[in-house]
Amino acid sequence: MFWRKQYQIDMFRLPRHIAVIMDGNGRWARRRGLPRTAGHSAGADVLKTIVKECNRIGISYITVYAFSTENWKRPKEEVDYLMGLLLDYLRNAEKNLAGENVVIRVLGARDGLSQEIQEQIIKTENFTKDNTGIVMNIALNYGGREEITNAVKNLINDVKTGKLESADVNEEAICSRLYTENIPDPDLIIRTSGEQRLSNFLLWQCAYSEFWFTNKNWPSFRIQDLKKAIYDYQKRTRRFGGV
Ligand code: IPE
Ligand code: IPE
Ligand code: MG
Repeated sequence: MFWRKQYQIDMFRLPRHIAVIMDGNGRWARRRGLPRTAGHSAGADVLKTIVKECNRIGISYITVYAFSTENWKRPKEEVDYLMGLLLDYLRNAEKNLAGENVVIRVLGARDGLSQEIQEQIIKTENFTKDNTGIVMNIALNYGGREEITNAVKNLINDVKTGKLESADVNEEAICSRLYTENIPDPDLIIRTSGEQRLSNFLLWQCAYSEFWFTNKNWPSFRIQDLKKAIYDYQKRTRRFGGV
């Protein structure tokens, strides 16, 4: 008989912010004798389902790693395909997430993206900014080191021009110059595909995040896996350096 474990999630102890490293699209495709691009396309479909479910459960923020500053090393054909998928995702956000009330924001070095994508980002962000549901951050041309470097440059400039006293350089001054300004740190970071590393994702913000790994590749990730991740998260004791 088919039996599936039901994970009882405590609605009063939900992670406020879930971050996801959506890895393993290429391996998912290879196992099926398909091109890597087919894995990316299947992954984009899974993303829609997971965002909707997070919104339904009542998660406030989801941040997904869509393209890293290092992913430019990939063959041009794959990079172009990924950029096309992201452009479609942003363009169709209205249709795909119809009635979902999602706020979409993009985190990363925008000037490295095509003019077309940069313009679409502004349109999608503006279009969804008054929504009141989950905030979905898409990390695109994002690198944790690039983000921190950018914040430091910004700080130095503000000190030089007298906007900031060097004595006022503190954690808050850095936080407010990161792409994640005004977004709480992730409580839970999920990575698929069996890899157990950050790959330059949210380096500053993950200081006290809980990590959850699965061997499943991203296109095979299901709502049940999301629930298992939240269920496991709720069994952990977070201490933040205290007792
Ligand atoms: C994750 O899947 C998607 C991106 C990095 C854009 P991969 O493309 O890294 O898939 P694998 O890790 O090679 O299987
Ligand atoms: C991390 O995956 C980036 C994204 C999921 C967008 P990668 O596949 O690029 O990471 P590595 O190379 O395995 O560390
Ligand atoms: Mg990978």
